[in-house]
Amino acid sequence: MKYIIAVIQPDRLDEVLKRLTEKEIHLVTVSNVVGRGRQKGVAEVYRGHKEQGSLLKKVKLEIAVNEEFVEPTIKAIVDGARTEKIGDGKIFVMDLQECVRIRTGERDGVAIG
Ligand SMILES: Nc1ncnc2c1ncn2[C@@H]1O[C@H](COP(=O)(O)OP(=O)(O)OP(=O)(O)O)[C@@H](O)[C@H]1O
Ligand SMILES: [Mg+2]
Repeated sequence: MKYIIAVIQPDRLDEVLKRLTEKEIHLVTVSNVVGRGRQKGVAEVYRGHKEQGSLLKKVKLEIAVNEEFVEPTIKAIVDGARTEKIGDGKIFVMDLQECVRIRTGERDGVAIG
């Protein structure tokens, strides 16, 4: 299992969710966050609203998936979020040790989706 975290431009969220849905990836956590990349939030201000300091508003997606969904998830996010301009975002992929569905006590591959 992998835990995929993506930071994207807020205005790409709808398109990313659409692409994920098309690949049967429905379970997701979405947060409004602030952040900065290698331009340190400076050159990118025209794309979004500037927050305090050098931080820009972004959207963070968190998706836990079984192995066969890792590449489809990455592709859906890239295809939905890429504009080829700076600040398109980044995807981080981590090994996931455990997942528990609280209601049933199910674990791991069964609990994840
Ligand atoms: N190494 C990192 N660690 C933590 N968060 C990061 C990292 N890189 C990017 N982020 C997060 O992702 C957001 C978008 O990053 P961004 O797309 O600007 O990356 P970049 O490396 O500057 O690439 P680009 O040159 O395409 O802008 C940042 O505002 C930040 O929230
Ligand atoms: Mg950047």
